[in-house]
Amino acid sequence: MKAVVVEQYAPIDQIELKDVPSPRAEPGQLRIKIEAAGIGFVDGLKTEGRYQTKDPLPFIPGTEFAGVVTDAPGAPGGYQPGMRVMGMTRSGALAEEIVVKPEALHPLPDGVAPEVAASFRANYLTALYALSGRASLVAGEQLLVLGAAGGTGIAAVQIGKLLGARVIAAASTPEKREFAQAHGADAVIDYTQAGWRDTFKEMTDGHGADVIFDPVGGDISVQAFRSIAWRGRHLVVGFAGGSIPALPFNLPLLKGGALLGVDLAQIGVREPELQKRLMGELTGWLADGQLKPVVGQIFALEDFRGAFKAMQTRAALGKMVVRIAR
Ligand SMILES: NC(=O)c1ccc[n+]([C@@H]2O[C@H](COP(=O)([O-])OP(=O)(O)OC[C@H]3O[C@@H](n4cnc5c(N)ncnc54)[C@H](OP(=O)(O)O)[C@@H]3O)[C@@H](O)[C@H]2O)c1
Repeated sequence: MKAVVVEQYAPIDQIELKDVPSPRAEPGQLRIKIEAAGIGFVDGLKTEGRYQTKDPLPFIPGTEFAGVVTDAPGAPGGYQPGMRVMGMTRSGALAEEIVVKPEALHPLPDGVAPEVAASFRANYLTALYALSGRASLVAGEQLLVLGAAGGTGIAAVQIGKLLGARVIAAASTPEKREFAQAHGADAVIDYTQAGWRDTFKEMTDGHGADVIFDPVGGDISVQAFRSIAWRGRHLVVGFAGGSIPALPFNLPLLKGGALLGVDLAQIGVREPELQKRLMGELTGWLADGQLKPVVGQIFALEDFRGAFKAMQTRAALGKMVVRIAR
């Protein structure tokens, strides 16, 4: 089968598509023919060996996929060949086939395209867990989403609207702000402008943000926390801007605000029941059409480098997807 193989941690230009043996499913495992893989910011960090945890070399990058079960010895988890699934894994999704345990999979509702399914689980589960599971966002609250046109950001915009919040989307370019508005944001703001906090204050009639969804980090995070409402919750999701901010401890005291960490990788282990409930909620919205996950750009497997570069150059709108099989 064809697979992207990282033999040495390196920039994406130095990573190749190779022919490698197809994986075999042992009892208790399932083999999936992958139709599409979603690429997130983390995948770029992993190929360069810059993520918090390093995948042992060599490895196939890609953590999110959608496809069809082709082998299921013993029908683990009730899965049978021919069933359509979406999945999450530590690595291995940028390949024509993958072998996983049933816990990595979720059945795919009818009528959902593989590109949509591959854009769905990581970002939308992160957004729902953050906004509902951690921040207990309620209808009518003011939600500020930073990096709102990115993969997790646009998911937070959509989930925030589904939870009934007023969503203010912060992004760096007019195109990104239009994109956020087209996906439901009530108002937009250019957070690269020096006076953006004053504009934000006016937009919320002096109230500030009840909840801040923050996948960006750096100085923007501290600025945003300074605009938090009394009893506000600032969700630490990621550091796409490249630097980890330090928050002066007097700010939570003065603002009556809280900083809450979010880690998708730990939800299933630490709060499996909550993850199950949130996935049920998400797939329900997906099945009844209330939630239409945003597919940003689709690349052929041969062009996988384009998906990584779009994110690394801050050019991505929504989630980048690599189409693998037809
Ligand atoms: N905690 C979790 O469980 C979890 C789950 C998924 C992802 N993450 C993390 O969340 C972060 C965002 O992931 P994502 O998939 O949403 O990424 P993404 O699609 O690339 O979006 C990130 C956004 O950050 C902004 N940004 C600011 N400075 C940037 C820079 N120097 N380079 C790139 N983007 C920059 C960009 O918006 P503007 O141009 O508008 O500023 C961009 O749209 C990453 O750090 C990722 O590791 C965490």
